[in-house]
Amino acid sequence: MMETMIVEIRAALEAAATDEALQELRVKYLGKKGLITGLMKNMRDLPQEERPAYGSKVNALRSEAEEAFAAKAEQMKAAALEQRLAAEKLDVTLPGKATPMGALHPLNQVYREVRDIFTGMGFEVVEGPEVEFDKYNFEMLNIPKDHPARDMQDTFYVSEDIVVRTHTSPVQVRTMLKHEPPIRVICPGRVYRTDDVDATHSPVFNQVEGLYIDKGVTFADLKGILGEFLRKLYGQSTVTKFRPGFFPFTEPSAEVDASCALCHGKGCPACKGAGMIEVLGCGMVHPRVIEACGLDPEVYSGFAFGLGLDRLTNIKYGITDIRLLYENDVRFLSQFV
Ligand code: PHE
Repeated sequence: MMETMIVEIRAALEAAATDEALQELRVKYLGKKGLITGLMKNMRDLPQEERPAYGSKVNALRSEAEEAFAAKAEQMKAAALEQRLAAEKLDVTLPGKATPMGALHPLNQVYREVRDIFTGMGFEVVEGPEVEFDKYNFEMLNIPKDHPARDMQDTFYVSEDIVVRTHTSPVQVRTMLKHEPPIRVICPGRVYRTDDVDATHSPVFNQVEGLYIDKGVTFADLKGILGEFLRKLYGQSTVTKFRPGFFPFTEPSAEVDASCALCHGKGCPACKGAGMIEVLGCGMVHPRVIEACGLDPEVYSGFAFGLGLDRLTNIKYGITDIRLLYENDVRFLSQFV
């Protein structure tokens, strides 16, 4: 019986396919109540002189059995690893999955260009609130309550003294109140007017204000800096035209046209055949505004400008309907990746 047992064990191990089966066999043969342990116990029934030979035979059987179990366990571990490696195999030759790329909104793209041009000329970026005091939006900009110029900007009033800002110019006031010259800032932001929505109007749109105040700043600085800005934005061959304009907070004031970036002045649908497009308003900051902000207009002078970011963006990309900028239709926006 002892002789056949190892053969029996090897056959059983061969057939065992799972960890559980292996464990069962281990209990069956090597466990405390297992068959080999039982053989050892049988030794008691043998005559004294036969016991040593019997004992060493059983021990030899136990070691052989243990070896067989160890070999089987090793073999099962290797097989499991093999299986896992096969299951986790990657085919590195498969084509990758494309990740769709997002993009900045065209308004943000153009804003960043504008910002980089001005910060490159030493301007800083400052921001102000969209809900603004009437005082900053109008009064300190030389637009008193009964001034007809208020009609130029159809205003959302929050209360008698508070408005939703109609332009970014109140940030000029806030900056001059807070800082000593030299002041060189641009102020980007949303502005609001009670316009009905159509292809060229939106009750909310975006402006970038500029302000440069120091001793001895002249209209020549205004022309130089704004000309340089427009050439950087639309290309070196851009032609500019400064036309007399009117704003209560600047004197003299000008409206600036730039040659159409799409047709280079020849005339196309984007510029309605004119070749030139109005891009911004500007002027020398009115002495009354400088004074209202606590600075001496005899000592300091400067210029301000305000540009419509939506308009700049539309010109740059030949967009003919402002609503496209606000509807967030991905079919439109994905063209700007
Ligand atoms: N605030 C003016 C507007 O919204 C633009 C402007 C700003 C003009 C600064 C001159 C100087 O129309």
